[in-house]
Amino acid sequence: MTQIEGSKFLVIGGAGFIGSHIVDQLIDGDAAQITVLDNFVRGKRSNLDPALASGRVEVVEGSILDQELVRRLMDGCDGAFHLAALWLYECVHEPRKALEHNVVGTYNVVETAQELGLPKLVYSSSASVYGNARTVPMTEEHPFDNRSMYGATKIAGEQFLRAFHDQHGLEYVALRYMNVYGPRMDDKGVYVSVIVKVLDRIARGERPTIHGDGTQAFDFVHVSDVARCNLLAMAAPASDAAYNVGTGVQTSIRELVDELLEITGSELEPEYLPGAHMFVTNRLGSTEAAERDLGFHAQIPWRQGLRTVARHEALLR
Ligand SMILES: NC(=O)c1ccc[n+]([C@@H]2O[C@H](COP(=O)([O-])OP(=O)(O)OC[C@H]3O[C@@H](n4cnc5c(N)ncnc54)[C@H](O)[C@@H]3O)[C@@H](O)[C@H]2O)c1
Repeated sequence: MTQIEGSKFLVIGGAGFIGSHIVDQLIDGDAAQITVLDNFVRGKRSNLDPALASGRVEVVEGSILDQELVRRLMDGCDGAFHLAALWLYECVHEPRKALEHNVVGTYNVVETAQELGLPKLVYSSSASVYGNARTVPMTEEHPFDNRSMYGATKIAGEQFLRAFHDQHGLEYVALRYMNVYGPRMDDKGVYVSVIVKVLDRIARGERPTIHGDGTQAFDFVHVSDVARCNLLAMAAPASDAAYNVGTGVQTSIRELVDELLEITGSELEPEYLPGAHMFVTNRLGSTEAAERDLGFHAQIPWRQGLRTVARHEALLR
């Protein structure tokens, strides 16, 4: 349990999409000092521009594979947020790299936290650990039915934390995010979210494509809610537990595309293509445990939140 105000934090992967929003909220919460460690494989310096203006943020370029560096930066911190990871499809195409960064890198972070007696570590896990929902909504007791390398690495991270808690008393919370969206979503390269792909096609005047019948359904949670949940997890007495982070509302891909067409004022019709392989087609997490133990309740409904996807502001009414 670490209060935000006046405390010193390390945000690992803090130049990325979610991490940079955590940094912003730490500044707003009057944290004394924030160090960002990021190797910039995906994150951007510009994501930190608003926070850097505070004078309380230091950015260090480097990797969690460099344990000495992690140790130096974590030493003296009151808490750390660990978000550094390779993304779902990178893990598919480069499984060994996923093993190094997501598994060995995470082990370095966990071991260092224990060695230094870090008061609290908040770990970004993922709802991917569950695979497809067997029952809806999935509670945190839902089995690990993951079928992806990415999910495997997230399970490994959670298990390291549990082991270090039992063996050494490491205080931690793991957060299993549903599908996160919002300003600063990565919009470059092949590993981008469905929301970015659809908006890109609309911007080019091309029909958005839907693979399969569009009934695949997910819980889309806004990045500012996810960042807020990270701060709540840091400050709560909760430890040695994993929590779903979502809205508790399920949205199908068809509904999502229709809404994006609506808010961009587009007359285009979606184009249905044969189903592509997806690891998960049905995801909805129970929000009860996070509400009970962390006091977290998502505040931004997805229809409203979609309007904040900044890069496409010009398209939005
Ligand atoms: N975005 C989502 O929908 C979602 C859903 C579930 C879980 N998550 C998890 O949340 C975390 C943050 O996700 P995000 O969407 O902000 O991704 P992101 O890629 O924007 O952020 C991750 C950051 O980590 C950095 N990084 C990667 N490898 C590193 C290394 N070895 N050393 C130092 N930095 C490294 C990247 O440059 C990037 O800035 C990740 O762990 C991700 O798996 C995200």
